[in-house]
Parts: sequence; structure tokens; C-alpha cells
Amino acid sequence: MTDLYDRALKVIPGGVNSPVRAMKAVGLEEPLFVARGEGAYLEDVEGRRFVDWVLSWGPLIFGHADPETVDVVVAAAREGTTFGTATEREVELAEEIVAAVPSVELVRLVSSGTEAAMTALRLARAATGREPFVRFRGNYHGHADPFLSEAGSGVRTLGLEAGGEGRVVDYNDLDAVEREVDGAACVFVEPVAGNMGVVPPADGFLEGLRRLCDASGALLVFDEVITGFRVARGGAQERYGVLPDLTVLGKIVGGGLPLAAFGGRGELMERLAPAGDVYQAGTLSGNPLATAAGLSVLRRLTPRVYEALEAKGRRLDALADYGRFERVGAMATLFADDYPALFRHLLGRGIYLAPSQNEAMFLSTVHGDDEIDRTVEAVAEFSA
Ligand SMILES: Cc1ncc(COP(=O)(O)O)c(C=O)c1O
Repeated sequence: MTDLYDRALKVIPGGVNSPVRAMKAVGLEEPLFVARGEGAYLEDVEGRRFVDWVLSWGPLIFGHADPETVDVVVAAAREGTTFGTATEREVELAEEIVAAVPSVELVRLVSSGTEAAMTALRLARAATGREPFVRFRGNYHGHADPFLSEAGSGVRTLGLEAGGEGRVVDYNDLDAVEREVDGAACVFVEPVAGNMGVVPPADGFLEGLRRLCDASGALLVFDEVITGFRVARGGAQERYGVLPDLTVLGKIVGGGLPLAAFGGRGELMERLAPAGDVYQAGTLSGNPLATAAGLSVLRRLTPRVYEALEAKGRRLDALADYGRFERVGAMATLFADDYPALFRHLLGRGIYLAPSQNEAMFLSTVHGDDEIDRTVEAVAEFSA
């Protein structure tokens, strides 16, 4: 055991601040202790460098320590790190989100995807006067109580069963939704699943959800924490042309700093305090460093960026020769028969995948042909 992990275990439960960072699921004792990141690379405390396909679980679409993001954050910090009152920059970021995400007319900024999802559910319940809701086995919406049972990501990796509410049905199973949607406040869904490995929506699935919600009076909530600004600038709703009532955003929207958001139609969002009666608040909400980072990133996400990401994705599709490979835009998963062995093989060759099959590989503008080809070659070597 390294000294750092030994120290961590003495003061942090399990030695990590988020369970998905633990590596026991892939047969390793210790998490990766990172010293720095640059572009597509991570460097650990022992000086080993890895091609990083995790990118902090998705936010870093321009890679680690992106110079422009760093510059705006440093400049913002010099003017104060938090004010707890309104700023121009948070208005600008909200304007940017409203312009980009087709169904969002009003948006509120928070600090984590968990908070955003939790409040979207509260709002859907208040707006409909209904308590039950429908969600999908293997989707993940953060760690608020109602979302935990049969959730994806670390809940699934660790095999935990932790309370939870909601009528849980299989992803892509419209018949099951039809059976369960009656009297529901909302249907909560990842429009492209990314927390059970990447699973694209089946043809007609999102349209079917829209139809079932309209027929039953349930609200449709897209959790676009991963897909937002990733599978298209306007997220999955732009890519698939299906508009939800409420949208949950996180990760890329904060440019790698702690920021998330939820938004939707004006009359729904106006239910939030102080305009309305549904309470939601946050000391660090709309934080000036995070809004600076988010604005800098969102303003650079032009159509050319998505074309470039798609081209990189097509190159990465070579992985399909080595197992079931799913990719939607800049998110992908190679489903391996023995994922822990694959993970360890790649790590040994300087390539870092998420330490669980339930997560995605995240492409960024800084993954070049070299990083992609090295990854494909290492997978080929493993499969040989
Ligand atoms: C789809 C989805 N929703 C919500 C969350 C929770 O976001 P956070 O970790 O910022 O609380 C995540 C986190 O990975 C996610 O992937």
C-alpha cells in the first residue's frame, strides 16, 4: 500500500471522495492519485503518464488545463471567488444555455448534477401535484435519495441497493413506461444512457416517451448531465429532435468547475422561488469562477468542434473489432468480456479508462490520432 493511500484511508471513508474512483471493481487496491493533467494526459503522483479517457467523468471537452479556461478562471479569481449575490457573468451563461438548448427558456445554475436532478424532480412534483415518477434501471441521476435504487454508475458497479423511489423500468422499454406512467409526475431519463456503459436510445424511444408523457400529463425530464454539449451543442434533444419539459445539465456546462443547471419552459421554471413557491437555493450557485469557465467553454463549442469530435469518434470506432462497441458522438463504451483485465492491461500501457464497465469513454478535442491509435492498438494486443 502506498503511503498516500494509507493516509487517505485514515481520514476519508474508503480513501476516496466519490466511490467511482475506487478501483476494486477492476481488481486494483488503490485509486489513481493524480498530480496534474495536461491536454489528453494525466500524470499520477509517481510521474506515470496516461492517455485519459475519463476526463473527470466528462466535463473536460477541451482537455486538462485548457489554457483559455485556466486564464479566465485565474482572472475571475483575482476579482473574488464567491459573492453570494447576482453577477453579470451568470446572466451571460444563462443566456448562452438558453440559446443552445432547444427546450430551455429559463435556467437556474447550481453546483452539481445531483442538485440539479433533485430539484427538477421537486419541480415536476410540484407542477403536476403528483408524487410517483418513472425512471430507468441503470440510469444515474446523482445521489439524491429518490434516484438510488437500481441506479447505474457506482451504485451498479458496487452492487448497492439503497432506498430510492420511482417506478423503475428497463431502458428502451416503452411498453413498461406505458404501464407505469399513469399518475406519474414525470419520466426521468438519460436520453443517451451513459451510466450503464453507453446505450443509445432505440429508434422511436424518445419520441415514444414524449407521446406517453403528453397523453398522461407527466412531464418529460431529460438528464443531459453527460449528453449536454457533448452529443451536440444542444445535447441529445438537438441530436434526436425530441424536446423535454425539463432538462438537467452538468459537467461540460461548468467547463470543469463545480457547476450544473436545470431549465425548461418558462411557466414551469417560474414555479421556483422567489418567483414561485418551490424552494431551491445554494451558497455557491452561479459561482464566478465556474461561470467564467463555463462561458469560456460554451462560447468555443462551434459546429466545427462537433465535426472534429465526430471524426475522432469514427477513428475510435476501430474498437468495434474487439467487442460490442457503442458510440454516440463523443461518448462511447467498449463492452469487454473481462473488463477488469482489459482495464489493467491498458493502464499498464499508459491508457486510463474508467475503472468500471458501467461508464463511458469521453472524447475531447485534445485526443489526437496518436492517442486514439495507441488505444486501439493496446486493445488489439489485449484481444490477441
Ligand atoms: C446523467 C447524470 N446525471 C447526474 C449526475 C450527477 O452529477 P454530479 O456528479 O455532478 O452530482 C451524473 C454524474 O455522473 C450523471 O452522469
